[in-house]
Amino acid sequence: MLTSPPKTYRVKSFGCQMNVYDGDRMAELLAEQGIAPAPEGEDADLVVLNTCHIRERAAEKVYHDIGRLKRDDGTSPLIAVAGCVAQAEGEEIMARAPAVKMVVGPQAYHRLPEMVRAASAGERVTDTDMPAETKFASLPRRRRSGPTAFLTVQEGCDKFCTYCVVPYTRGAEVSRPYAALVDEAQRLVESGAREITLLGQNVNAWTGQNAKGQTVGLEGLVRELAAIPDLARIRYTTSHPNDMTQALIDAHGEIDKLMPFLHLPVQAGNDRVLKAMNRSHTVESYLEILERVRAVRPDIALSGDFIVGFPGETEAEFEDTLKLVDAVRYSQCFSFKYSPRPGTPAATMDGHVPETMMHERLLRLQAAVDRDQLAFNAASVGQTCEVLVERRGKLPGQWLGKSPWLQSIHFIGEAEIGQLVPVEITSAGPKSLAGTQLVILAA
Ligand code: 5AD
Ligand code: SF4
Repeated sequence: MLTSPPKTYRVKSFGCQMNVYDGDRMAELLAEQGIAPAPEGEDADLVVLNTCHIRERAAEKVYHDIGRLKRDDGTSPLIAVAGCVAQAEGEEIMARAPAVKMVVGPQAYHRLPEMVRAASAGERVTDTDMPAETKFASLPRRRRSGPTAFLTVQEGCDKFCTYCVVPYTRGAEVSRPYAALVDEAQRLVESGAREITLLGQNVNAWTGQNAKGQTVGLEGLVRELAAIPDLARIRYTTSHPNDMTQALIDAHGEIDKLMPFLHLPVQAGNDRVLKAMNRSHTVESYLEILERVRAVRPDIALSGDFIVGFPGETEAEFEDTLKLVDAVRYSQCFSFKYSPRPGTPAATMDGHVPETMMHERLLRLQAAVDRDQLAFNAASVGQTCEVLVERRGKLPGQWLGKSPWLQSIHFIGEAEIGQLVPVEITSAGPKSLAGTQLVILAA
């Protein structure tokens, strides 16, 4: 069936920050084709569901979302399923959901405009290639940015942790070239970014050649970006312990614009479990890295990811995870119940942990993390903290932003979006801080 070309679009991204980045880039591509973002609350002619496959019932959620897009008159917008579910289950989606006209994988979305044209002409198209040409070279230049921006510098994973789909959905580890990244960062800053978070599934495995032709690691890229005058803050995520080089650790002590925050997933606090996960680090080697990071940057805030109930995990092994949390004192953490992912080695391992037991372990872990998070935040009360203002709050005169340690802060003051302002912290909760802006009187 022939449909008229879409005039409006909506991109809905789920999952990780890299998906948010991809969603923004798809939006820019569609805008370049003259398709406008659909106004809030109005139906769009074209909807991109940018999906995540990392945990539980991802595909069911997509079918549910597709069903919800059906209009009262029985028609649907042009639907594209993108992201990691598209990559992993594209064929099945096409077979099961006739309303879906496009399936596009995370490495192929630069071809979305052609796909939209074909779909408008009545075709159903799937593109889950991982082409040699990089999508990045074909994407439009960055023109818009809020005060904080994401920049994907590395994609894919060669680590093959036994629970994880990423090596299958995102492919092998690839670093984007140095010059392209410096250029994209400059454009983002020209468009309003004051903070850039460098993204990658294994971001600290990034490597490239600088302008002098020298091979450098992520610290080299961070150093170059730190020289962009209007860029105030640099962050990076997500890192693997084995790629945490001394040069990158040292950068935390040397580069002021590199924020004192490190997200370094460990997943479990027991060596047998880590081995079964194919993590290729031990509890001791992980703690030793954190010690070296704290040696150069004593105030660094640490964050981690945990999986509870990995197949075969015993009560005693889980308690080792609690001990690790007690030892590290994280400022925040993400913790998940193990979810078997089709096609991964762990899915067929023996000893799957019952759901009720996983739930109970998750609650205990989260209680321990909440305790540390509250203690970390409470230590800021009475201090003055520099906040990057991201948006207005709900109350008059209220603003929202982040501290250097990635704490969410709401404060009362007279600020502007994108400013860095000093805020006196007056109270702390487990998830956020409250404060008052200090007025700097002109001399
Ligand atoms: N089950 C539960 N959690 C998972 N993660 C990745 N795969 C799984 C899975 N199969 C978690 C890990 C990872 C984060 C992004 O998601 O903790 O670091
Ligand atoms: Fe989800 Fe992983 Fe894909 Fe990100 S890369 S969207 S976390 S499956």
